[in-house]
Amino acid sequence: MAGAQGDGRAYGRTAGTWDPELVQVGAGTASGELLRRYWHPVGRSAEATTVPREVRLLGEDLILYRDLSGTPGLLEPRCCHRGTTLYYGAVEDEGIRCPYHGWVFGADGVCLDQPCEPDRGRNKERYRQPWYPVVEYNGLIFAYLGPAEKQPVFPRYDIFEDMNDEEEEIVIIDHFAFGGPTEAPCNWFQTHENAMDPYHVFVLHTTHSGVQFNPNLEIWPAIDWQVHPWGVTSSQDRKLPDGTTLHRITEVRMPTVRVIATPTLTVLGKTNNLSWTQPIDDTHTRVFAMVRKPRGSEAQGLPVYGEGKTWFELSTEEHQRFPGDYEAQVGQGEIALHSTERLSSTDRGVSMVRRQFKEQVQIVAEGGDPVGVEFDEAAALVSVVAGNYIISSETDLSEVPMGATLGSRLDNPSS
Ligand code: FES
Ligand SMILES: [Fe+2]
Repeated sequence: MAGAQGDGRAYGRTAGTWDPELVQVGAGTASGELLRRYWHPVGRSAEATTVPREVRLLGEDLILYRDLSGTPGLLEPRCCHRGTTLYYGAVEDEGIRCPYHGWVFGADGVCLDQPCEPDRGRNKERYRQPWYPVVEYNGLIFAYLGPAEKQPVFPRYDIFEDMNDEEEEIVIIDHFAFGGPTEAPCNWFQTHENAMDPYHVFVLHTTHSGVQFNPNLEIWPAIDWQVHPWGVTSSQDRKLPDGTTLHRITEVRMPTVRVIATPTLTVLGKTNNLSWTQPIDDTHTRVFAMVRKPRGSEAQGLPVYGEGKTWFELSTEEHQRFPGDYEAQVGQGEIALHSTERLSSTDRGVSMVRRQFKEQVQIVAEGGDPVGVEFDEAAALVSVVAGNYIISSETDLSEVPMGATLGSRLDNPSS
């Protein structure tokens, strides 16, 4: 941003602002209401236990628990009787018992017992603890925080279908940016849009900090982006030393899903992982990656820093010398200041993601249904396209996602 001074010095510069339609997650905000039309991860399945747990999603404090019959529940903490917190409640066969006067609530909020009332509550079913519906999927718990009449079916993804349970397993990785801490102190949108920023793979992950993923990513790619009804993809084509072409496709899906072609290049063809961003509140974010892999094998995709260290092993100075996604994205501030940015030609993908998100914010504000929500169970299965596709002269380009323009763009990367 130019300063108020004609020579650009910092004195007198104005404070930047963020775009509320991109970053606000709270109930009643325009973007928060869009987010409330989708299912979001709220924790690992293993985090829903008989010990109530405080969780936060879209700026709402909630209690996650699992009753003794195995049903997970997500309730408002403040008991609807006189408001103490269910964090200190006792989980029972069906529901959770408030510690103060013993009312019991099921996962649907219905009061099941009022031990101090006549006949243990003659009208107890009239009392309902505020609750949200949850779904368990491959080791994650998802919640829907929106209006009942707009609750979509829970989407499943083709890359996790037809598992061979004897040979394959699904693991959840919730290190921020695949290597850092579980939670990042920044707004969710700045990590989400990063998935459509392929140039940072070349700089941040390959040349600036040394090779954090696969050395072939050092080859300068031809990059393009495509807008789809459901999200945005980027394709990055690199001519490999053996004469084949690496055609990488990365996708983001409305609102918080990103599907990454494994940057270690250990998985070829359609990718094996998908991530959801959990907007905890306006300034805190958790990301869950679901990875399908052969049993017992390493989970792919972890970056290395410096001399083969993990993110946690780095000293403060090494974090400076080998920054990765955590440093770059948290480094944008608690909430990125959009008004001070200078978007350039390499930011087209980021602009596309923002534009599409804001369009959907408007659609919901005007009473419509956003993209990617389905109300028919038959439409619950989603097919992703992201992956690392190796193209040779024998490859039938019509079988490669977004492969048609490949050759011309490689010969003339700037086109
Ligand atoms: S405050 Fe929960 S039962 Fe009284
Ligand atoms: Fe990255």
